[in-house]
Amino acid sequence: MTHSKIIAPSLLSANFANLEYDIRQCEDAGVQILHVDVMDGHFVPNITIGPPVVKAIRKVTRLPLDTHLMIEEPDRYLEAFAGAGSTYLTVHYEACRHLHRTVTRIKELGMKPGVSLNPATPIEFLSEILPYCDLVLIMSVNPGFGGQSFIPTSIDKIQNLSAMIRSMNLSTLIEVDGGVTLDNAASVAEAGTDILVAGSAVFAQGTIEASFKELQQAIR
Ligand code: DX5
Ligand code: ZN
Repeated sequence: MTHSKIIAPSLLSANFANLEYDIRQCEDAGVQILHVDVMDGHFVPNITIGPPVVKAIRKVTRLPLDTHLMIEEPDRYLEAFAGAGSTYLTVHYEACRHLHRTVTRIKELGMKPGVSLNPATPIEFLSEILPYCDLVLIMSVNPGFGGQSFIPTSIDKIQNLSAMIRSMNLSTLIEVDGGVTLDNAASVAEAGTDILVAGSAVFAQGTIEASFKELQQAIR
């Protein structure tokens, strides 16, 4: 299966006081998927948004919502995010004691399951769960905040994951999150990434449309 590589704007860097406006800008620019960061102040130091905000976003757009849970005990909230309208629901490997059960439940609830790895977690830990995932999210920064610098060793990690997915004859999508900029987007894509998350690179400079299009151009 071939698929084109896409940029997923992370709403973490959008204007929380007027998300609808920023989402409309994304749609007008040709964005195909929105990345939504959920943080609980426990798994990561920061606190962001929860199911009510995802539900509000769902009401103003038909774009797929790629929901990234950076929370402890995600099992407690799977129903809530399904009800809120999440399309992909990604949990952290490091936050799940019974990951297969969690991933299975996400699928049962009608969402596409993703598993995310922190920078220090090796891809080898995915070998058993990979056939059950639609997506693997490689963190290229330590999760918690936008605007951090890309950890360079993530490139090898992406290449190795890409080889692992091919060797298992799977079509699992590879998503990369953290520190993606105009300078490194091409090499991140080249390493085997299908979806590049970009927060500050889309929302923190110039117009959303110009920033998004420039990034999207860089990975074609
Ligand atoms: C970080 C979040 C990211 C964040 C990326 O923990 O998971 O999605 O928005 O922001 P940038 O692209 O600015 O590194
Ligand atoms: Zn994220």
